[in-house]
Amino acid sequence: MKVGKNITELKVGDEIFGSTESAFAEYVVMDIEKLAMKPSNLSFVEAAAAPTAAITALQRLRDGGNIRKGHKVLITGASGGVGSFAVQIAKSMGAEVTGLCSTGKVEMVKSIGADHVIDYKTDDFTRSDQRFDLILDNTGNRSFSDMKKVLSADGQIIPNSGHGGMSYVIKAFALAPFTNKIGGMKIANLNNRDFNILRKMMESGDLKPFVDKVFPLEKTPEAIKYLEDGLARGKIVISMDSEES
Ligand SMILES: NC(=O)c1ccc[n+]([C@@H]2O[C@H](COP(=O)([O-])OP(=O)(O)OC[C@H]3O[C@@H](n4cnc5c(N)ncnc54)[C@H](OP(=O)(O)O)[C@@H]3O)[C@@H](O)[C@H]2O)c1
Repeated sequence: MKVGKNITELKVGDEIFGSTESAFAEYVVMDIEKLAMKPSNLSFVEAAAAPTAAITALQRLRDGGNIRKGHKVLITGASGGVGSFAVQIAKSMGAEVTGLCSTGKVEMVKSIGADHVIDYKTDDFTRSDQRFDLILDNTGNRSFSDMKKVLSADGQIIPNSGHGGMSYVIKAFALAPFTNKIGGMKIANLNNRDFNILRKMMESGDLKPFVDKVFPLEKTPEAIKYLEDGLARGKIVISMDSEES
């Protein structure tokens, strides 16, 4: 590790976590604004799993959804990277959380604290009698009109899916100004203040990255395939160590 000559906040040897635009690299140049001290109770592998997914979950729920204690929140893609952080963050903010996932991941979503889990392979949540104050949509595979059926009177959908393709993104942008039922799309704002909030949540035990598998750098193609095949639970991590776990 090296530290730039104008940086006073860090010294060589400090343990940090954060986001960078470089990927799968052994050495990267980091912007000090996009990192924070590593949560002291986490391993480097766990800390590496957190930054972008956790900050996205935090900002979409807090800033996009104005989440409040007692809110009934549905999180789609609850078994995924963003979703597994969102379930825990929403719980820590006092919400009643329902996670949506496929059959094989129901137990995992329960294990990270969801109050209720809906298996979309057997249940269509848009036909249920339940009403949600917030739907954090990480999957983008249901229409906004279907999701609106299960919103409470003041409820809101927080669109957050690149998986939904351009038509999803365009619809979210186009509809948001005309209805308070659909929030706008937002790219995560990677910043030190929010990384510190997440660090504190992790140190207090409110938030723990769910790491499914660790792949050595040379197995990066396998890691990407594992993700694309929909097998990953929570996050996978690429490590510079040659051990797979
Ligand atoms: N706003 C931002 O800056 C930002 C940042 C990062 C990511 N994102 C977006 O957030 C979304 C989630 O990202 P991620 O990293 O969490 O992805 P991920 O780890 O791949 O998780 C996506 C989850 O979607 C679930 N899924 C797949 N098909 C489904 C279906 N038919 N119905 C319901 N759920 C389904 C999968 O779980 P099951 O096997 O349980 O279905 C999977 O766990 C992506 O669309 C990404 O573009 C936004």
